Amino acid sequence: MTVSDDKPVIDASFMDPAVQDDPFDVYAEMHHKCPVYQLPENGMYMVTTYDGVRTVLTDPEVFSSRPSGGAAGTVNDAALAHAEVFAERGWVKARTLQRTDPPEHTHYRKLLGRVFTNRRVQDMVPRIDEITHSLIDSFIDDGECEFVSQFALPLPGVFICEQLGLPADQYLTFKRWADAMLAMSQRVLSPEEAVAQAEIELEAQHHLAKEFEARRSEPRDDLISALVHAHQDEEPFTMEELQDLMHQLVTGGFETTTAALGTAMMLLLEHPDQMEKLRADRSLQKNFIEESLRFDSPVAGLWRTTACPAEVHGVDIPAGASVHARYAAANRDATVFDEPAVFDIERENANQHVAFGLGNHFCIGAALARAELMSAFTAILDRMGDIQLAEPLDPQPHEFSFFLRPLKQLPLRFTKL
Ligand code: HEM
Repeated sequence: MTVSDDKPVIDASFMDPAVQDDPFDVYAEMHHKCPVYQLPENGMYMVTTYDGVRTVLTDPEVFSSRPSGGAAGTVNDAALAHAEVFAERGWVKARTLQRTDPPEHTHYRKLLGRVFTNRRVQDMVPRIDEITHSLIDSFIDDGECEFVSQFALPLPGVFICEQLGLPADQYLTFKRWADAMLAMSQRVLSPEEAVAQAEIELEAQHHLAKEFEARRSEPRDDLISALVHAHQDEEPFTMEELQDLMHQLVTGGFETTTAALGTAMMLLLEHPDQMEKLRADRSLQKNFIEESLRFDSPVAGLWRTTACPAEVHGVDIPAGASVHARYAAANRDATVFDEPAVFDIERENANQHVAFGLGNHFCIGAALARAELMSAFTAILDRMGDIQLAEPLDPQPHEFSFFLRPLKQLPLRFTKL
């Protein structure tokens, strides 16, 4: 790694899949050595402390959510080729919600707030429970399952399909769309790869456009109808706005929840004493879910762009820089969480984690994600006993991603309770 003499160096690169897979020692080193670290590979500033992340997330006038260029903050040939596909044959997404600052953001958030009410989430719980049980029904007699593909992926996948007007058994189509939507921000793509991903996303755009139009005239009791009609007496969302909002709901709500389910299960397997404790006292389930979100956060970090020169922990950051708020590292900050590397389902302040972000962009789907996690672990612990890993995990159990934590596989064996 080459950096100029006056800059701190860490002996690791976040472009290295092994580091992304198990970054926790590196986070600890960064907390001490360089809580704001400029990655030598792309110039991005990564902020790792709880206080630093809070500063970045709660000052939108300085740390703007309006991206400066491509997905990770740069305009390049791949980003241009990708954009052209939508300009020619689909919809150029409007800049909404997650990619806006107040007051624009406040407008979108208010309208979306009508879609994601606590009441609506409560009303969804019986259906989430049904999906959870039917998935477990499909493998419970086998005494084994591959937890990611047979449970963690289909639970949010089937649910989101139903909410967005696609037949439930097509959740793998949805996964393909979600992967394509995320592709540009997961890793560096060539222009050809970017166009191939855009073509897949185009399918999603055309499918969703038909569903939006159908729900405009005939609303149903689903998320897509609620979204189309959220404007009430204000201007309806345009197709470009709807496409962008849907993009955010799909990318924000699907793989994140899959990762959270898989990771929480893996943590119980890696910490059998905590599994035992949880089985003995099920009132700990809620805190167990918060502790797993803290301990290994499904969204490791996201980006802001400095609207003016800024300073965090004494480090000067120029205007226009890409700043990465690393939630996963903030959740391991020893100044907030005692012995942060200990997985403790009785941790008193586990719910102070920032796994759902902070401030005005706090995750709008947090209540839904928590409901899915509660439903899942209630059914799993009720119905599956003596859960064990069926075979050793891959030494790098996650797919490479700069900001998500997708588990490749989690093969389990268990007894039927
Ligand atoms: C465990 C699962 C989830 C995790 C860890 C998670 C994490 C996050 C985080 C960290 C943010 C903050 C983004 C920022 O600061 O820019 C966020 C925002 C958001 N999340 Fe989630 N999320 C999850 C589930 C969901 C679900 C189920 C949905 C919807 C169906 C969803 C939709 C969104 C949206 C639309 C935003 C943008 C909110 C805004 O900009 O105002 N998320 N999420």
